[in-house]
Amino acid sequence: MKELDDLKNIALSLIENVKNMDELSQIKIKLLGKKSELTSLMKSLKDIPAQERPQFGEKINSLQKMIEDKLNDTKEKIYDAEQNLKFKSEAIDITLPGISNDIGNLHPLSIVLNDIEKIFTSMGYEVVPAHDIETTYYNFDALNISQTHPARDEQDTFYINSEQVLVTATSPMQIRVMEKNKPPIKIISPGRVYRTDEIDATHLPMFHQIEGLVVNKNITMSDLKGTLNVFAHELIGENIQTRFRPHYFPFTEPSAEMDVTCFVCSGSGCKTCKHTGFIELLGCGMVHPKVLKNAGIDPDEYSGFAFGMGLERIAMQRFGIEDIRLFYENDLRFINQF
Ligand code: DAH
Repeated sequence: MKELDDLKNIALSLIENVKNMDELSQIKIKLLGKKSELTSLMKSLKDIPAQERPQFGEKINSLQKMIEDKLNDTKEKIYDAEQNLKFKSEAIDITLPGISNDIGNLHPLSIVLNDIEKIFTSMGYEVVPAHDIETTYYNFDALNISQTHPARDEQDTFYINSEQVLVTATSPMQIRVMEKNKPPIKIISPGRVYRTDEIDATHLPMFHQIEGLVVNKNITMSDLKGTLNVFAHELIGENIQTRFRPHYFPFTEPSAEMDVTCFVCSGSGCKTCKHTGFIELLGCGMVHPKVLKNAGIDPDEYSGFAFGMGLERIAMQRFGIEDIRLFYENDLRFINQF
């Protein structure tokens, strides 16, 4: 009995001083394991006189139970303490300022192209992207550009071989659209175009155009003027003026160029508009009957108008950009301004 009391005191003080889970499991083995004092006391039970045995047995059992309970309590306490420590070390200070990600922005050419597409799609036009490579048939012949036209010259056109070129305009897409679709047709066709121009502040061998084509019964020059008038006002502003000047294109007859009030001086005259108050926005005209015919559309039944404009030039005027090369240098100091 004395031994049991001593054991109880030792066990209690051992458990009380446990600091972590490792120590706890060692002490558990020491107090309750096969080689523990408690186990050997249990084994000695058979040597005890029969009448004392129940009382002794009961005392051993309750000591064992008490040790187990204490160990479990301690285990819970240590677990809680360790968890708390872990939470503390992993805590996130939500009052710290955040780290913001740099968000990209649209390229100025994309901004202008999106605006133009929005204006025409709101008028019921479909957007059909143009090709980069065409046969000389689509790029020239079908558009009524004669064999002797200067545009066919190798000095203006990138020939891939004698039959294929990098497109010199988005106009060939007119033919492809008319071949595939019956009127009514109402499309715009944005794309890259290529010319063997020397690089300078206003010329690059690659730039962008947007083509437009409308074909239906009874389409007239007044449809062309009305549509492009609305377009110019939507794109540039309600207060501008437009004017149409006669011009020549092989694929339209009659042909015109449309001017708009100069963005820079609002019409009073400056260097940009060469003191005319107007700048050229696009080329346009009534689709030449030969072109309709080439694309399989009967010019006696249908008529149409077409137009084409350069994207870079419009963006340069709108944003006051003086060098076309800036668009393609991928300099964020430039691009982030828009
Ligand atoms: N293809 C012409 C050019 O590259 C632009 C153009 C003018 C397109 C008149 C047209 C048009 O569709 O009708 O300069």
